[in-house]
Amino acid sequence: MTIILKTNAYKPDPEILRKAADILIKGGLVAFPTETVYGLGAVVYDENAAKRIFLAKMRPPDNPLIIHIENIEMLNEVAVNIPEEAYKLIKIFWPGPLTLVLPRHPRIPRIVTGGLDTVAVRMPAHPVALELIKEVNTPIAAPSANLAGRPSPTRAQHVITDLYGRIDAIIDAGETLYGVESTIINMLVDPPLLLRPGAYTIEDIERVLGKKIEIPEFARGYGEAEIALAPGIKYRHYAPETLLILVEVRNRSLIELANTIISTAMEYLNRGEKTCIIGTSETINMYSSLSEKGAIILELGSRNNLFEIARNLFNMLRELDSLSCNIALVEGVEEKGLGLTIMNRLRKASSRRL
Ligand code: TXA
Ligand code: MG
Repeated sequence: MTIILKTNAYKPDPEILRKAADILIKGGLVAFPTETVYGLGAVVYDENAAKRIFLAKMRPPDNPLIIHIENIEMLNEVAVNIPEEAYKLIKIFWPGPLTLVLPRHPRIPRIVTGGLDTVAVRMPAHPVALELIKEVNTPIAAPSANLAGRPSPTRAQHVITDLYGRIDAIIDAGETLYGVESTIINMLVDPPLLLRPGAYTIEDIERVLGKKIEIPEFARGYGEAEIALAPGIKYRHYAPETLLILVEVRNRSLIELANTIISTAMEYLNRGEKTCIIGTSETINMYSSLSEKGAIILELGSRNNLFEIARNLFNMLRELDSLSCNIALVEGVEEKGLGLTIMNRLRKASSRRL
């Protein structure tokens, strides 16, 4: 049985938090909102609860969990030998969507770290997440609260769809703020290595760090990483059930981009396939001819507001599946700022790139 606990995001109900904390303390699993996406939490020291997270999500056991802390003292309970550079980032970006990979404290069960000697840790900037950790009074291990391979949940309803009946409780505090997950950086190499672009831009992080961060190809969403650096990377992610084709910007002008979508969509429409287009405010009017031919047109947001596009993305990928299209075409964006994060998610979600 899964219970749904509703509360206000900014003024969390203390009774609801107490209930959720009790479930966690007894070894249960609770989905809760963070500023990025909903997480599926368990007490970090509870190996059985961690095992249940992997089972509930159907997550491969070598894909480690992120540890969520409420205050800076908790950092020393999960990590050791923390490099000075990490504190530079922590001072500015915590609480917030930045996850740091650091040496693991021996007390952290290996099941949580997927067998690694490192931990991924962050301090979330969401009143419900922070108050919940405080109430439990131990760090909370929490991956995103979706079935493995599905888009991350930005609303409680997404968690219900994926995990109802598989977990003990879901705290529903409405839609999350960023709608994409935290930025993950490995601080144990020099230069620091971006493992996953996220809600904080790499440009902002480099400015605070005062140096460049290495952006490997896999962080752009290409290929498969053999390395055990960020084990999650090798698995398929964020995928809708619908076959998704990503049309990348490359050197195309916006008109060329839209024309590529139109000509590709026409091929599918002429074959009688139910076709869906995911465009942006700037191009959406160019697709009216496709709409007349029966295509479904969806709008992600404006290219001048990548925050909005990132925020809508996972919900849009989930909505796509309810439209039962045979094929969907989505526009890429430029890889600057949040564009890097959006392109990482789109490349992973798509089965073909043009
Ligand atoms: O915003 C977020 O980060 C959300 C919310 C709930 O906090 N969490 C999230 O967790 O996205 P998850 O499990 O979906 O993604 C965690 C990622 C995985 O790709 C995993 O491989 C990586 O973090 N990770 C965890 N521990 C790691 C470690 N020790 N070294 C390298 N990568 C690690
Ligand atoms: Mg995830």
